[in-house]
Amino acid sequence: MKILVINGPNLNMLGKRDEAIYGEKTLAEIDALLRKQGEDLAIEVLTFQSNHEGALIDFIQGQSNSADGIITNPGALTHYGFSLRDALADTKLPIIEVHLSNIYAREEWRAKSVIAPIAKGQVSGLGWRGYGAALQILAAELKEESV
Ligand code: DQA
Repeated sequence: MKILVINGPNLNMLGKRDEAIYGEKTLAEIDALLRKQGEDLAIEVLTFQSNHEGALIDFIQGQSNSADGIITNPGALTHYGFSLRDALADTKLPIIEVHLSNIYAREEWRAKSVIAPIAKGQVSGLGWRGYGAALQILAAELKEESV
């Protein structure tokens, strides 16, 4: 079983971005934790980050045929990334959307996600642990186990 973890623009700057909002962990640290969690769940976790919408789409198109699910934090593309949304929808895979911050408690424009309607669900505001929660739930769903 393989799960793709896809992060969008500016998430490569975690650890340097506003820590009060996004936390102290770097993306490399979060990705390593998810790969370790994946090992414990006997799931391959393939991580990818890009600042470019087209590169994210190329990765999705290239990898989705061999994947079972997707966890994605699209960064600001969450709010206007229609091409990314279409690429995610085309995979027909279960998708969990993750945000480190609570997008409903910030600027008004962040409260709209164009990804949410094609996602199975969303984790928002729980920091880096939100990725782990998404992985645990997606794995359980794919294996049809209780969490
Ligand atoms: C974010 C929230 C977005 O609004 C923002 O543009 C990001 C990160 C989050 O994880 O909280 O880059 O997706």
